[in-house]
Amino acid sequence: ADLRGKYIADTIRDVPDYPSKGVVFRDITTMLADPKALRYSIDLLHERYENYGLTQIVAVEARGFLFAAALADRLGIGITLIRKEGKLPRDAYREEYALEYGESALELHKDALTHRDRVVVMDDMLATGGTMSAAIDLIQKTEATIVEAAFVAELLYLPGRKRLAEKGISSYAMVAYD
Ligand code: PRP
Ligand code: HPA
Repeated sequence: ADLRGKYIADTIRDVPDYPSKGVVFRDITTMLADPKALRYSIDLLHERYENYGLTQIVAVEARGFLFAAALADRLGIGITLIRKEGKLPRDAYREEYALEYGESALELHKDALTHRDRVVVMDDMLATGGTMSAAIDLIQKTEATIVEAAFVAELLYLPGRKRLAEKGISSYAMVAYD
């Protein structure tokens, strides 16, 4: 069996009652600080995606940037950013999504991808799936092919994986919380 997922899981810290009472926050700052966990996470992603003919890794702000950068470098390809609203300087697509309180929006430069691109979309966590659904909608406006959505961890007690499946997008997570 591959013990690297278990090693990574053991470096993620559970923080009770953050950001609100009753929520257990899975904090990856401790995982990022552990050199072996960080290396394993990029090794697993690299092994999974090395033969997919990817042209770009699409990185979701903010923590998705970290994993996307290391993975893209390993694969010898580039990084395309999906940013919170108001950060991208050129003509951008925009998608609103629900947050715990209120809503926010993500943006992607219109000319960042074309129908010739094959991408994996990278974020650290799949929870309700609101963030990744908006990211997928943005990428689909460019007509790029989405191979998969990739995460360090997913919360199986929330509907993220199901929401993405309903859009025809499969999810990969190195760590799962039931
Ligand atoms: C977190 C996390 C994911 C998202 C997952 O980011 O990094 O992007 O939430 O939750 P969801 O599946 O319910 O959408 P957050 O919105 O806290 O923003 P950050 O990038 O500023 O850390
Ligand atoms: N940890 C990190 N990011 C998150 C979480 C979590 O538990 N839930 C939603 N985004």
